[in-house]
Amino acid sequence: MRMSRRRFLALSATVVAGCTTSEGAGSGPTTPPTTARPPETTASTTTTTTTTTTTTTSTTTTSTVPEPAELPENPFTLGVASGDPDAASVVLWTRLTGELPAEGVPVDWRATAEDGTEVASGVFTTGALLGGTVRVVAAIDRPVAYQFFTGSWASPVGRAAPITATDELRIASASCQNYEAGFYAAYDDLAEWTPDLVVFLGDFIYEGDAQPVAAGRVRSHEGAEPTDLDGYRARYATYLGDPQLQAARGAAPWICIWDDHEVENNYAGVVSSEGADPVTFATRRSAAYRAWWENTPTRLPPPDAGVDYPIHRGIDIPAAGGGDLVRISVLDGRQFRSDQVCDTTFDLGPPCSGWDDPQRTMLGADQEGWIADRFSTTAARWNCLAQQTVLTDLRFGEDGAILNYDQWDGYTPARDRLLANAPDDLVVLTGDIHLAGIGLVGPLGAPVGVEFVTTSISSSGNVPLDFLPVVEGFENIVAAELEHRGYTRHTVTPAAWTAEYRTVDDVADAASAVSTWKTFRVANGAAAVSEV
Ligand SMILES: [Fe+2]
Repeated sequence: MRMSRRRFLALSATVVAGCTTSEGAGSGPTTPPTTARPPETTASTTTTTTTTTTTTTSTTTTSTVPEPAELPENPFTLGVASGDPDAASVVLWTRLTGELPAEGVPVDWRATAEDGTEVASGVFTTGALLGGTVRVVAAIDRPVAYQFFTGSWASPVGRAAPITATDELRIASASCQNYEAGFYAAYDDLAEWTPDLVVFLGDFIYEGDAQPVAAGRVRSHEGAEPTDLDGYRARYATYLGDPQLQAARGAAPWICIWDDHEVENNYAGVVSSEGADPVTFATRRSAAYRAWWENTPTRLPPPDAGVDYPIHRGIDIPAAGGGDLVRISVLDGRQFRSDQVCDTTFDLGPPCSGWDDPQRTMLGADQEGWIADRFSTTAARWNCLAQQTVLTDLRFGEDGAILNYDQWDGYTPARDRLLANAPDDLVVLTGDIHLAGIGLVGPLGAPVGVEFVTTSISSSGNVPLDFLPVVEGFENIVAAELEHRGYTRHTVTPAAWTAEYRTVDDVADAASAVSTWKTFRVANGAAAVSEV
C-alpha cells in the first residue's frame, strides 16, 4: 500500500511540498529559534526533504524522489522517537543503519489517529551526509501512532501527541544513562507510564573508551573514545540499539538538553578538561553537537560547525481552565559557561580564588537575558526550569566550602543573577549527580523554589553510600537517596506538583523490578515540599 502511495506521489503534479509537515517548516514553539531551517538543502540531493500529503501552495519536489532502494538488511534498528511538540505539530525521528546508497534513501512516514485515520504523512530522503537520520515535523492535532517505511522494511511504531490544554500534565525526568554501567529497566517502567512528555537532562551518551565487562560494568561500549563525527555517530548507535531505550523514546515526545558527556567530561565552553587546545577541542565539540542533533528528536536547526549552537528553549503548557499550567524553560549550562575555578570535587577547603568573580557565567549573557525575560513575563501557574547541574546551595561550613565546582555552587554570582527575578512557584528539574535529591532553591530559610534532582537511569552513583547522613544534613536538602538508579515521575495540576521517584532494584538486571522510593509534593503558592 505504501509503495503505491509513493508512486502516486511521484507521478502527481498536484501534491507538493508542504509548509506544515516537512522538515523545518513547523511553527516553532520555542525560542531560539522559532523556526528550523531545512536540513542540508545545499549539501546534496541525498538530504533533500521531499513531499507531504497536505495540500498547500509550494514548490513541487516530487520529481526528485529517487526510486525506492531495497536495502539488504533492516535499517530500522535504532528505533523511533518524537520530540519538541507544540500545539499543532511534533518532530518525528528515526535513523537508518547499514550501508546507504549514494543516491539517498526515500523514507515514507505516516501518522495515524487511534481510529486509523491518517493525520499526516510524507516522504523524507536521507543519506550518508545525515548519518541516515530522518527528521520531519508532522502537523498533528491529536495523539497519533507513527511509523517509517522504506522498501519492504518498516520501523517500530511510536506514539506522539501535540501540546493540548490540560489540568494534569505528566512529565518524566531522566538523565545519565551510561551504557556500560547498567541496563535500562527504568525505561521500560517509564514507557509503561506513558507520560505526556519526557524531559532528558543530559548525559545521553558517555564518551569513554570501551571497557571490558567487569564488576560495575554490565556491557561494553564499542570502540575508542569518540573525537569526530563518525565516532560520535557510532557511540549514539550503540546506545540507541538498546530496546528499552527505544521503548521509552517511542512512548512519548522528548524534550532533550545535553550535559558534559555528550562531548567530554566536565568541559566548560571550549575548555577541555583533558587539556586539549581550544581550537582542537572546539572542532571536537562541533562534531559532538552535530551528532547530538542528528540523534535527537528536536526541532532545533542543525548546528553550523565552529559557531555557537544555542539549544535553550521553552514550552508553555496551557491549562484547561485558561491561562498556562506550566512554563517550561530548558537551559544549557555547559556550552557557554566559564571554566571551573577548580577541578576538584568534594573539596572541603576554602573556595578557590576567583569563585566570586561576577564576570563568570554559567549560561552566557544571551541565555541569562532570555531566562530573565521568561521569568519576568510568566503568568503560568508553575514555572519549571529543566537544566543540568544542582542549583540548591550546598556550600559547606564556615568557609563556605564548594564541594563540587562543576555545579551552580561554583558559579554563585551567576546563580544569584538567575534567582534574583525567580518567579513564584518555581520547580527545578536537575540531573547530573547520579542520586535522587530534593532541595530548596535560594537562600537558607527563604527558599524561592523546589529542586527535584532525578537519579541516573544507569550511571553509577558517585557519592559513597555512607555519606547519606552528610547529604541529608544540609539545611537545604529535604531528602536524598544515593544507592539506586531510576527516573522521576512528575504530575502537575493547578493545585500541586507531585514528584514520584522510581528506582531500579538492580541496574545489572535488564528485567529488574522498578518501584517507588518516595513521593514528594509542592502545593501551588508555597516554596516548600513535603513527602506524601
Ligand atoms: Fe552523568
